Amino acid sequence: EVGGRSELLGESRPGDRRPSKVAIVGAGAVGSTLAYACLLRGAAREVVLYDLNRAKVEAEALDIAHGIAFTPMGTVSGSDDLAICADADIVIVTAGAKQKPGQSRLDLAGATIGIMRDLLPRLVEVAPDATYIMVANPVDVVTYAGLKISGVPENRFFGSGTVLDTSRLRYLVAQQCGVAVQNVHAYIAGEHGDSEIPLWSSAMIGAVPLLQWGFTADGRLLDEAVRAEIAEEVVTSAYSIIEGKGATNYAVALAVVRIIEAVLRDERRVLSVSSLLDDYLDISDVCLSVPTVVGQTGVGRRLVPVVTEHERAGLQKSAESVRAVIRQFGF
Ligand code: LAC
Repeated sequence: EVGGRSELLGESRPGDRRPSKVAIVGAGAVGSTLAYACLLRGAAREVVLYDLNRAKVEAEALDIAHGIAFTPMGTVSGSDDLAICADADIVIVTAGAKQKPGQSRLDLAGATIGIMRDLLPRLVEVAPDATYIMVANPVDVVTYAGLKISGVPENRFFGSGTVLDTSRLRYLVAQQCGVAVQNVHAYIAGEHGDSEIPLWSSAMIGAVPLLQWGFTADGRLLDEAVRAEIAEEVVTSAYSIIEGKGATNYAVALAVVRIIEAVLRDERRVLSVSSLLDDYLDISDVCLSVPTVVGQTGVGRRLVPVVTEHERAGLQKSAESVRAVIRQFGF
């Protein structure tokens, strides 16, 4: 009955909707920052962190838990026992080889695939119905290999892809044009890496096509040369940040929280996540980032914008670059 003992104690009853649970694998800079960002944004009710290093993962979880008085309702815990991930709604894998200064993301493939071969089968055992989001690099290769290793349906297994690169692009365009970043609709597609491609021809700033924007805030024409500068800065961002502080963690964590929210709240948000493509602009059997509808069932419709021949060629080249590494490791 209403107001009975179980109601007062808030015990769950059969049929109650269980609060959302997010499991983050890897308590390094990205994983720990992601756990913190999830709590800060109230993205999930329960956040768990898993890492091989027990002292580290317990310390990271405790340090975040001590701040819960200042965040939306939530809990966070950490363990070196994979069982902590049991029955998660979303499993995010950040555990992987770390990009060293000057190293490309594709260079990390061998080490990270080795980690996935060990981790993914054990994760799927404890969280068979979760949506899996790969973040470890090279994320497109890892997503493709992980799909094959895990056997999870392709709509529920995808990568953070170029959601971060897209936010870098939007930040730089917003800065150059003196507008709010929320009004810049432009996507980076392809590999989350050196071969990524900005989809300039479909980009919009408010109600104006970006290609017709005209002058930047400092009086330069937003022409091909300026656009090339912006694209170069997007591609090289991670390298310069890694040079300076050894890793990137804040923006990628915020990008992944955005994806988590889209899944848990069924937002149907268009995000450039990395997923298995099939006959997308004649690209098949590779994981790449394209504008994709993300909701509670994971990845849905892949949007096909009008692209120039240059953009189409860039996507094909990116697909070949990722596919070459995928084949190199026998997938
Ligand atoms: C970066 C890492 C997440 O681009 O690949 O910052």
